[in-house]
Parts: sequence; C-alpha cells; structure tokens
Amino acid sequence: MKLFCVGCGPGDPELLTVKAVNIIKAAEVIFAPTARDGKPSIALSVVERHLKKSARTVSLVFPMTKERESLSDYWKRNALEIADAVRSDKKVVYLTVGDPALYSTWIYIHRELVCNHEDIEIEIVPGVTSMFAFAAQAKMSLAEGDETVAIIPACYDLNRIKKVANCCDTLIFLKDGRYFDRVIEMLSEAGFGDDSSIAIAQDISVEGEILKMSKLRDMVGTKGPTEKYFSIMVAKKNNHDRK
Ligand SMILES: C[S@@+](CC[C@H](N)C(=O)[O-])C[C@H]1O[C@@H](n2cnc3c(N)ncnc32)[C@H](O)[C@@H]1O
Repeated sequence: MKLFCVGCGPGDPELLTVKAVNIIKAAEVIFAPTARDGKPSIALSVVERHLKKSARTVSLVFPMTKERESLSDYWKRNALEIADAVRSDKKVVYLTVGDPALYSTWIYIHRELVCNHEDIEIEIVPGVTSMFAFAAQAKMSLAEGDETVAIIPACYDLNRIKKVANCCDTLIFLKDGRYFDRVIEMLSEAGFGDDSSIAIAQDISVEGEILKMSKLRDMVGTKGPTEKYFSIMVAKKNNHDRK
C-alpha cells in the first residue's frame, strides 16, 4: 500500500531523474494535476513516453483559485481517489511539475493523506525544480558567499514582497508572469539599483521558451516578456557577473 509522488522536472522529459523514469515505467495508475476539467496535464505530458500501454492515467482537477475553502473540497476528494487506488493494490504514482516540495498540489494531497488516510505509505522522489532549470538556461548563479536568496510567489501582497526584497540579495519570483511588471516597478524602493540584473523566462525547457536578461533600468516602465503563469523572474542586487 505504497504511493509514489514523483517530481517530473520543469517540462523537458530529459530532465526526469532515472529513479522517476523507473517508477513511472512500473506504474499501473498515474494521477496528475490539472487546473480544469479537460485541460491536458503538463506533468503527464512529460512522462508520456515512459508509460506502460496498460497504465491508467487520471487527471485530477485543482482549480486556480486562492480560496482555500473551495480548494479544500478538491484536496479531500482527490486524496480519497488516490488512496482508494493504492488500496486496490495497484502501483500508483502521483506526478508534480518540478519538485514536489515547492508550491505543488502534492503538498495538500500529502497533508490529507497523513491526516485522513494513515494506512497509505508514501515515498517522494525529488525532481529538478523550475528555478534551477532556469538558472542553468540563463547561465546564472543564484547566490554566492554570504548572499541571501528569497523564493517569492509574485501574485500575492506587494508590501510583503517589498519587505522581503529589502533584506535579500537575490529574489526568485514564481507564480506568475502576469504579476512581474508590478514587482519590477517596486524593486528600486527595495534597494535594487538601476544596474541590478533582471532575468525573466517563460516555459523553461519546453517548446516556445522565452528568456530575457536585462538591467533594472531597462525594464522599469516597460511591458515585460511574460504573460503566462509558467514564468520565472530572478532579480539580483549584486552584479558580480558584470563584464
Ligand atoms: C505551482 S508552482 C510549481 C513549482 C514546481 N513545483 C517547481 O519545483 O518548479 C508553478 C510555478 O512554477 C514555475 N514553473 C514551473 N515550471 C516552469 C517552467 N517550465 N517554466 C517557467 N516557470 C515554471 C512558474 O513560476 C509557475 O508559476
């Protein structure tokens, strides 16, 4: 009665770990998150080539809303469906994009399972997180020496983001590209000089990837290149890599 949660990386199937591939190849039931009914699951598309012909795939809906109360019903229902599949003695895998520990639907499923389905044993397989795929693609370091790094969801309270920005050297913004412009406008008030590096990417490691490296001065007052949820922005106060 064991459930595997597998982190399947940022989108490029070659960024799956060997362990992830082995578990996915053996899976009889694969659960994957999607934002709405009928929308293909990104996580599922990453692993498709490794699935057994007989494997059953199930997309579970996790709506894109910040309302915890309505989300909680989905978490409960989805966790129950997964637990029932594991109890039927099948080899069951739950997939997440990137790594399961970072802003993933798995976090809520895991909590539900631990609280309400104690009989289910769990193994978590880490995945390449989008911010490290981003750093590799941008050939950019995220921190050195005594520098501090913050990981920030851009779609929440801007005042809180500003407080964090004030005391960190590198800011990694996820969730989501449509909020990056308003964050950029705030950075100079949080101690980021005109010369600070700003790197922005959309759809890292998959078709249509966009990657733009700039200075803060060139970004302020302009429209950024990202319009999608699947975007990352990194802002660095110290510009050691400057030529
Ligand atoms: C729900 S979080 C999941 C993060 C994931 N667990 C990870 O480890 O990267 C979704 C956010 O991750 C980022 N993301 C994930 N994959 C991405 C990709 N291929 N390109 C750009 N951003 C990505 C975006 O910031 C997106 O809004």
